[in-house]
Amino acid sequence: EKGGFDHFMLKEIHEQPKAYRDTMLGRVDESGRRVVFQDLKLTEEQIKNIRNVQIVACGTAYHAGLVGRSVIEQLVRIPAENDVASEYRYRDPIVTPETLVIVVSQSGETADTLAALREAKSKGAHVLAITNVVGSSIAREADDVVGTLAGPEIAVASTKAYSSQLIAFYLFGLYLAQVRGTITEDAAAEIIAAMDALPEQVESMLANTEAIKGYAEQISKHQHLFFIGRGQDYAVAQEGSLKLKEISYIHSEAYAAGELKHGTLALIEEGIPVIALATQEDVLEKTVSNIKEVKARGADVMVITYEEHVVNLLKSVDQAFAIPKTLPVLTAALSVVPLQLLAYYASLALGHDVDKPRNLAKSVTVE
Ligand code: F6R
Repeated sequence: EKGGFDHFMLKEIHEQPKAYRDTMLGRVDESGRRVVFQDLKLTEEQIKNIRNVQIVACGTAYHAGLVGRSVIEQLVRIPAENDVASEYRYRDPIVTPETLVIVVSQSGETADTLAALREAKSKGAHVLAITNVVGSSIAREADDVVGTLAGPEIAVASTKAYSSQLIAFYLFGLYLAQVRGTITEDAAAEIIAAMDALPEQVESMLANTEAIKGYAEQISKHQHLFFIGRGQDYAVAQEGSLKLKEISYIHSEAYAAGELKHGTLALIEEGIPVIALATQEDVLEKTVSNIKEVKARGADVMVITYEEHVVNLLKSVDQAFAIPKTLPVLTAALSVVPLQLLAYYASLALGHDVDKPRNLAKSVTVE
């Protein structure tokens, strides 16, 4: 049942290339320049009238939504905001008929996300669900569904569902951009071609996990660590931190790299591990200066970046892990993989039950 893997989590990490391919299947026309969504109720007229997007979810799905917001803002230039469902449902959210609400849920059964969906609908928003379970409550009650085709996810720690949610956001973001005319066909074709390359790029990372495994063993001796990054790197940092906490029980915090000096820098002391994501090239120098801030306080820094930056970054960090090159808007689909593996191997090194971490359930159907 685990397909030769020791744990469902590792199996599901390895299923990501297939999940990416399956989620894209039939959603790009044969020219490779346009995204197609067959049965959306959301009309082109409605899309043109959208004034704001609210992305609502819990946990890892919320983290996928953080990337989704960045994708939509970059490609479509519509204001988008994120909220966790348990907050959204009780804050009397400001919704108009021109608000598109996107709920994200692997299971489609999370109680708070379902309640948030109902709240948004009752206020007149069009609600689109990104979900992995087509027959779920959330899929049934949403106005539209964009299915992720990750297949059943058994491990409590979500991996392939998260990354397939990213693919869904890329596709849907492209579709909105196409309809609203905020992207040229050439630019869309470039993104689609880069998406087509993602599965093999993930495979190449999965074929070579020794360095991450070694680093996981190193951090498993620590009780606290930090993840830092800017932009989408910050979004992925938050997911990496959650993954590590939930299965290795090592405490970590994800910080927007530029925010550290507003308080948290006080916690950086000799030997504390800091994992810096540095893939967003427009802010690379800014991230490097934040890396230097923590280095100067004795942090032990591991950076995740592109190969071409490794030599230069190694002047300021202790270790570097290179990920394959892609477009800035798509990086999360690659940079999350080493963080999933890091959490997995850290949990393994500490002898925890990787697939069934303490206190947690796969599907949270109570408030
Ligand atoms: C973490 C994890 C949870 C879920 C969250 C939402 O690895 O799995 O944080 O992401 O409980 O669940 P869904 O996506 O089913 O609504």
